[in-house]
Amino acid sequence: MTTVIKLIVALILKYTLGQNIPIATFQEKDSFTTALSITKDPKKTNAFVILNTKCNTCHRKRNKRRVFTEDNMNNQADDVYKQVFIKKRMPKGNIKLTSKEYQELLTWISSIKNNKNGNKI
Ligand code: HEC
Repeated sequence: MTTVIKLIVALILKYTLGQNIPIATFQEKDSFTTALSITKDPKKTNAFVILNTKCNTCHRKRNKRRVFTEDNMNNQADDVYKQVFIKKRMPKGNIKLTSKEYQELLTWISSIKNNKNGNKI
């Protein structure tokens, strides 16, 4: 009998106070959103599109050991920075980056550096 009363009270509370009572729902939703924003990091996605269309097209033929993937690109951020921004050796040949693409690569590189060192480059 008491169980039935508890159940009724819980139901009344649930419907009068709104539907957000179970705290677990918030927590699940938060970690779900976090997981999504890690895999769908727009900075990384933008950079990958550039690496894939402007760099991999040539690397696949002329530098097979350095084909960028979404899994290996973060580990190569320093090398990309050095070749593209400091030494300005890449992209080779006729392939050019637009200023928007330079900006997007830099945004991605600095987000990696922020993550590693906790401060901006
Ligand atoms: C037209 C061909 C071509 C394009 C386009 C190109 N690369 Fe390369 N890349 C090469 C070749 C060939 C090598 C290996 C020989 C060398 O280092 O010159 C290389 C080497 C590299 C290296 C290693 C260099 C070192 O000495 O450690 C990096 C990093 C790199 N490329 C990044 C990029 C990035 C980032 C892009 C695009 C923005 C890009 N490359 C576009 C041909 C290209």
